[in-house]
Amino acid sequence: MANRQLQVALIKGDGIGIDVTEAAISIVDAALKKKSAVRLHYHEIHAGAGYFRQTGQDIEPGGEAAAGQADAIYLGAIGLPEVRHADGTEISPHLRLRDRYQLYAGVRPVRAYPNGPQRLADPRARDIDLVILRESTEGLFYSAAVHGRSQVIDDREVRDVLRITRGTTEKLHRFGFELARKRKRRGSRGMLTCVDKANVFTSMAFFRQIYDEIAPDYPDIQTGYNYVDAQALDFIRRPWDFDVLVTENMFGDILSDLAGGLVGGMGMAACAEIGDETGLFQPAHGSAPDIMGEDKANPLAAVLSGALMLDYLADKADDATLAAAASLIEDAVYRGFVEQRLRPVEFGGDMGTRAITNALADLL
Ligand SMILES: NC(=O)c1ccc[n+]([C@@H]2O[C@H](COP(=O)([O-])OP(=O)(O)OC[C@H]3O[C@@H](n4cnc5c(N)ncnc54)[C@H](O)[C@@H]3O)[C@@H](O)[C@H]2O)c1
Repeated sequence: MANRQLQVALIKGDGIGIDVTEAAISIVDAALKKKSAVRLHYHEIHAGAGYFRQTGQDIEPGGEAAAGQADAIYLGAIGLPEVRHADGTEISPHLRLRDRYQLYAGVRPVRAYPNGPQRLADPRARDIDLVILRESTEGLFYSAAVHGRSQVIDDREVRDVLRITRGTTEKLHRFGFELARKRKRRGSRGMLTCVDKANVFTSMAFFRQIYDEIAPDYPDIQTGYNYVDAQALDFIRRPWDFDVLVTENMFGDILSDLAGGLVGGMGMAACAEIGDETGLFQPAHGSAPDIMGEDKANPLAAVLSGALMLDYLADKADDATLAAAASLIEDAVYRGFVEQRLRPVEFGGDMGTRAITNALADLL
């Protein structure tokens, strides 16, 4: 498998999604070339709010199926606040991709970079290096509007269901323990914290029960629990004490923005959504209409999501040169901050999307 060409479905989407995707792909390709690794073949799929405005459809015909045929899906950002369905919700075909391909493991690394913005005064904030593992197919998002599962009782009441299943939760917790183990081999502390609300909700007690059932299979990994409200507090009080945290979909959605904010802003927040068959890689931010078309977007979240994709493809294709290209990108970003050669406008610096991309290409 090592020498075959790998296929990536590419959805640039809307707003800054288009710019940061182009930046990420150029860096991914440069890193692959540097490591003499296989080239990726990109198959572009049109989708998003702009596409909806033109055609009345949120993704091109056959686009959902085509995305699943690739080895991985890369997405920029989707949505424009002024483009909506009749019920007031936004254009979100990517939520259907998550559902269709059961991309249950949402991986969101949060890392403090030297000379990067530090939002907390405590000097230990320099050591923040954690991963939020957000379940991404069920939980409260099971009822996300795009799935049409909300129960509209009448004009005075609407119900959304929070769903936890054994099958998905077992796979999620195993993924979390394996991730903690992989990070431990690279020098992290080897800890998986279960973040829930088991004191109040039966579904969350079930989530924790399954965590407890799986934990004995990983005696080398430290375990711990936190209620989600306490976790929000601890992300301000002592975020440097955490390694990998596993949580329900909605909790993970909110906590990952909070944690992303601790180390800068959305422009650093990379994301992978992984299922049994494929993975979707995207920056965690949206289309940022307030800065689109101004060359101000920080492309690093998109670039780091590209590195997550290479790491995933390395395992999938059993090809270590892809993992080496991923490390090359991560090291270049780190060194770029150490040497102050990466100064995003987002953090008060003087470098826009193109300047950051060019500097990173030099660093590679
Ligand atoms: N996965 C996705 O595609 C996704 C995720 C979130 C929001 N959205 C959509 O994006 C649109 C805008 O949503 P929003 O404003 O709530 O969130 P957003 O992430 O687009 O922007 C939030 C803030 O962060 C800033 N920001 C975001 N990414 C940045 C980057 N790379 N560099 C510099 N600054 C950056 C923006 O300028 C803005 O001030 C909406 O239509 C929303 O539905 C899509």
